[in-house]
Amino acid sequence: MSFTVAIDGPAASGKGTISRAVAERFGFAHLDTGLLYRAVGARVLLGIAPITAAQELKAEDLDADDLRSPEVAQSASRVAAIPEVRQALLDFQQAFSRRLGGAVLDGRDIGTVICPEAEVKLFVTASDEVRAARRHAELTGKGLDITLGQVLADLRERDARDAGRVDAPMMVAEDAIKIDTSEMDIDTAVETACAEVAKLR
Ligand code: CDP
Repeated sequence: MSFTVAIDGPAASGKGTISRAVAERFGFAHLDTGLLYRAVGARVLLGIAPITAAQELKAEDLDADDLRSPEVAQSASRVAAIPEVRQALLDFQQAFSRRLGGAVLDGRDIGTVICPEAEVKLFVTASDEVRAARRHAELTGKGLDITLGQVLADLRERDARDAGRVDAPMMVAEDAIKIDTSEMDIDTAVETACAEVAKLR
């Protein structure tokens, strides 16, 4: 039987960590859909046209170096506004969501466009400052030389582009449960999400 958990939210809200933990707890497969857009964005930075990059995306492109860098994130957010790019990635995401044994997908449009029928929809948020501090710690932990202000500006720019685009804008699905992780540590955020999944499982 398939069972889909859709987890959406803005940049660095904690949805990735929560998604991995939910998948592990319930034995579901996990797809970080942001990685698909990042892989396309990275190929575009190498000079490939966005639609071609999306249509010809290969599994090994998801292992490319630096997919987590702010430059790739910005490029991902720019290509993600192109309808043909989103269309090229649609079938793979929908097929993944229907895997037997359950699936967790995290992104921006999972509960609204990719899996409107998902059994559980969560929208994970946190204040801009908290999200920036978390991402800053993550990036500087990897040795990147970047200020908190630069990270905050990057997140805000992407959020505005992701929420403002015409095709599949980031928004809270009508039937999504909102989880604000601003004042939660990661364990509490994971437990809150797992409790919502357990109610419907
Ligand atoms: O990790 P973070 O939340 O910063 O970003 P991500 O989830 O890796 O997504 C990178 C970019 O891909 C986002 O800023 C969006 O523009 C785009 N994206 C999207 O449009 N739709 C998705 N389902 C997932 C990501």
